[in-house]
Amino acid sequence: MVAAWSPESWRTKPIAQVPDYPDESVLQTVESTLSAYPPLVFAGEARRLKQELGKVAEGQGFLLQGGDCAESFAEFHANNIRDTFKVMLQMAVVLTFGASLPVVKVGRMAGQFAKPRSAPMEAVDGVELPSYRGDIINGIGFDEASRIPDPNRMMNAYNQASATLNLLRAFAQGGFADLHQVQRWNLDFVKGSKQGDRYQAFAERLSETLDFMAACGLTADLVPQIAETEFYTSHEALLLWYEQALTRQDSLSGDWYDCSAHMLWVGDRTRQADSAHIEFLRGVENPVGMKCGPTMDPDDLLRLIDILNPQNEAGRLTLIARMGHDKVHDHLPALIRAVQREGRKVVWSCDPMHGNTIKSASGYKTRPFDRILAEVKAFFEVHGAEGSHAGGVHFEMTGQDVTECLGGAQAISDEDLSARYHTHCDPRLNASQALELAFLLAEALKAGGRTATVPLAEAS
Ligand code: PEP
Ligand code: CO
Repeated sequence: MVAAWSPESWRTKPIAQVPDYPDESVLQTVESTLSAYPPLVFAGEARRLKQELGKVAEGQGFLLQGGDCAESFAEFHANNIRDTFKVMLQMAVVLTFGASLPVVKVGRMAGQFAKPRSAPMEAVDGVELPSYRGDIINGIGFDEASRIPDPNRMMNAYNQASATLNLLRAFAQGGFADLHQVQRWNLDFVKGSKQGDRYQAFAERLSETLDFMAACGLTADLVPQIAETEFYTSHEALLLWYEQALTRQDSLSGDWYDCSAHMLWVGDRTRQADSAHIEFLRGVENPVGMKCGPTMDPDDLLRLIDILNPQNEAGRLTLIARMGHDKVHDHLPALIRAVQREGRKVVWSCDPMHGNTIKSASGYKTRPFDRILAEVKAFFEVHGAEGSHAGGVHFEMTGQDVTECLGGAQAISDEDLSARYHTHCDPRLNASQALELAFLLAEALKAGGRTATVPLAEAS
């Protein structure tokens, strides 16, 4: 017998990685205020994303999920949102046109504020304070007052998410994403670089194709996808008070949806079968993701799939493998085989970021770009060998010209990291590195067909 679910049934389960709020009454006030606020997304949109992901699960598409590791209140600016969106559009068009595969675009945006941490405390020069857990929880400043968790931060996060979504919807539907604008998505600092030139040549080919299609009568009147796009939002469903407050019953179907984003995922540290986080996600009808690190074993995976997707609905569950570049071949095949043996419908996506974080010699938390590519390459190889669809990638990226990940065509070195290291949490790909990844992905998908077996050419 499956126990009854309600939006608050998570409260009786063991919970990890959430703050201990000092004042319960402030928390309750925020929860009731947020519960009365409008939903950020609509059930019908989440259903549409689920349908699109259902096609990806069947090998008929590719999921591109990316954005900030942690959005911040300080960097909330229209230009930052626009530039991240531009890079997502560039990557998507490179993949759609380069690999002839529909691409489902999902941002880590408009709600990606709460962070799980590897240690509850942080020490600097002998002073110990609670760790920073994301702007929705506490402040990044290294002082006692900043690190106190404050429920009112949820209101700020909601407002920022709402304004971000508003702009994203305008960009997606209001002409900015028109394929005729493809040349204008190239960011100034990428122009003239190797990736920028490559993109420019690619954009010219695409423009010629559009002219040809128009000459044949295929214009935006007949094919609206030429002039606008679908763009979805997602974040880790970590701060469950916030998620519950935005969970609403759909008047059409009677089902519950977490209306804080179209897609939610559970992190690698909170995915235990009896955890509060799994309990919450099992009851909402949104498409959900689950991070799968090297400690996930096939039996655990099948148990979690049973809990999260008991109806075996294609598009409901995306498994996001984040093993580390040297662990994919050891761990992923057994997970894929278990899923195949039991006939489970899932989207397999690759997060090549979170298993490849290192401390550089100069002390920066960074990720070598060649290890990121190596993890993607290994993911494609394993899927090719197992006859399974390598269905997507999940990555941390920004449209800003940051120096956070080592390497790439710009050959960012340890000495370069300090120049523009701005992340509030993990190191992100910059626009040039993100484009490089997209070109390599397109090659792999094209060379290997829908279950690519050919290694990414430039990956080591
Ligand atoms: C993240 O995606 O930012 C994250 C913390 O990932 P994981 O749970 O895989 O460590
Ligand atoms: Co991260």
